[in-house]
Amino acid sequence: MNNNPIGIFDSGVGGLTVAHAIKQILPGENIVYFGDTAHLPYGDKSAEAIRYYSKRITEFLLEHNSKVILIACNTASASAFEYLKKEFENRAVILDVIDPVVNYLQNRKLNKVGVIGTKLTINSGAYASKLNMLMPSTTVVSLATPLLAPMIEEGFIFDDISNAIIRSYLTNETLAGIEALILGCTHYPVIKNQISKIFNFNTEIVDSARIVSVVLREILEKNGLMNNSKTVDDKFFVSDYTVCFEKIARMFFEDKINLSKANIWS
Ligand code: DGL
Repeated sequence: MNNNPIGIFDSGVGGLTVAHAIKQILPGENIVYFGDTAHLPYGDKSAEAIRYYSKRITEFLLEHNSKVILIACNTASASAFEYLKKEFENRAVILDVIDPVVNYLQNRKLNKVGVIGTKLTINSGAYASKLNMLMPSTTVVSLATPLLAPMIEEGFIFDDISNAIIRSYLTNETLAGIEALILGCTHYPVIKNQISKIFNFNTEIVDSARIVSVVLREILEKNGLMNNSKTVDDKFFVSDYTVCFEKIARMFFEDKINLSKANIWS
């Protein structure tokens, strides 16, 4: 079991931010990544649809012997985590990206925290309700920023269009005075610098990639599941091939990426 890979999924390139952090913190682990590019963006779909997609993708990752299923997508974490745990916990460790971030922040003295994410994540209230429970004296404000994930997925990252969209969202009055901003979508670390700039680099920008990787390391250690392999055997799958996915994947993993299309929806 130790030599088995970590299964990771997202709607597209977002989960690569988490996969990249995992490779840095756990270099002996191999990963199987699935980007459901045929269905992105997830953030505009219904929770039922996301649960259906998540179930089939989890089965696919289990067919590749994943010892852990990491839901590297906030939208799927908000809609499908409990469901996937119920269905698959007896076959693999199931890990989401929301709880680790909430637990990471819980002992901090913060007056006001902002959360940005997809419509489904924000409307689910997952961050707000969990933070309110653990940090009752902190005001939590949430803002849906639905254009950001498709914008990143289309490769608009360092240009005037992306800067205008980022500015228009993040100067929203709701976020005024926040001391920390949670990037409640795994796509957003790709534009972390531009986001930080809007807040003059003096608001803490919290992204899940590193936080989740540290939690994953603890879980693997505790359960005796660590792999210290010297051979890299990472696999990347998409449900629909897109040039942008490949381009962004290479930005994170250089040429070492083994990308194939998996027809799990036909
Ligand atoms: N990266 C995803 C998330 O963390 C999904 C974005 C989308 O497909 O709408 O929510």
